[in-house]
Amino acid sequence: MDIKIYDKLARRYDLATKIVSFGIEEIWRKVFIKNIKKFVKNGVMIDLASATGEMSKLGFDKIYFVEPSKEMIKVMIEKFKSKGFKEEKFEVQFQERPYFKLKKENKEYIIISSTAEEFSINEKADLITAFMAFRNFDDIKRASENIDKHLKNGGYLAIVEMVKNDSLFSKLILWYMNNIVPLIAGVLVGMKEEYKLLGRSIDSLNEEKILENFKDYDILVNKKLFFPIAKMYIMRKNERENIKS
Ligand SMILES: C[S@@+](CC[C@H](N)C(=O)[O-])C[C@H]1O[C@@H](n2cnc3c(N)ncnc32)[C@H](O)[C@@H]1O
Repeated sequence: MDIKIYDKLARRYDLATKIVSFGIEEIWRKVFIKNIKKFVKNGVMIDLASATGEMSKLGFDKIYFVEPSKEMIKVMIEKFKSKGFKEEKFEVQFQERPYFKLKKENKEYIIISSTAEEFSINEKADLITAFMAFRNFDDIKRASENIDKHLKNGGYLAIVEMVKNDSLFSKLILWYMNNIVPLIAGVLVGMKEEYKLLGRSIDSLNEEKILENFKDYDILVNKKLFFPIAKMYIMRKNERENIKS
């Protein structure tokens, strides 16, 4: 996905998303959080394609946010600072990529300027979240391998994604995303052409493209969300992974 689109959108991303989805994305996020909490309540979390950091609402104490858009990162840092987080200096700069560390009481947020395919940290996570993330990955297979590498055995992978299916309703929503959303976005944020591209990225993703990469995982939740074009998956990395390797 062309990151420049997200750089341009960053300052208006939260508002634009609320308007074009009629607030439904927020309902999906609430359902997502509630379902994740049935399996894992705290620990080390990695959030992929974080945008402005809304998945911090899960409340985990240690979160790595992986986001390639520099402008989104700026908005995320401002948002966390406005909630009382203070930026700390890293003693060691990992690799050549910028990292940002913010702290508030027992909460530690680390923002990594990188992609799902390329990020690398020397810690494994109890939970990896990808909310509306997969369709942005240029190479889903590489991103999935990197997810597997960074997840503990027995850890959870939680995904919400818009995937196309053959129902009439799904076709209708795609039509709305491809034809009406760009018009609204044109008026609202002057980004008609960019939103057309975003709509097309949904057109190209079906659930098999995601699930085929996690065949060894136990699927604990596989649910359509309200407005059945979005699906939620919660999977557990099989404890037996160790034995195989
Ligand atoms: C639809 S937004 C994600 C929403 C976000 N997860 C949330 O909770 O609100 C998509 C984000 O994916 C990011 N992105 C694009 N390509 C990416 C990649 N290869 N790896 C990780 N993130 C990527 C974009 O910069 C953008 O911020």
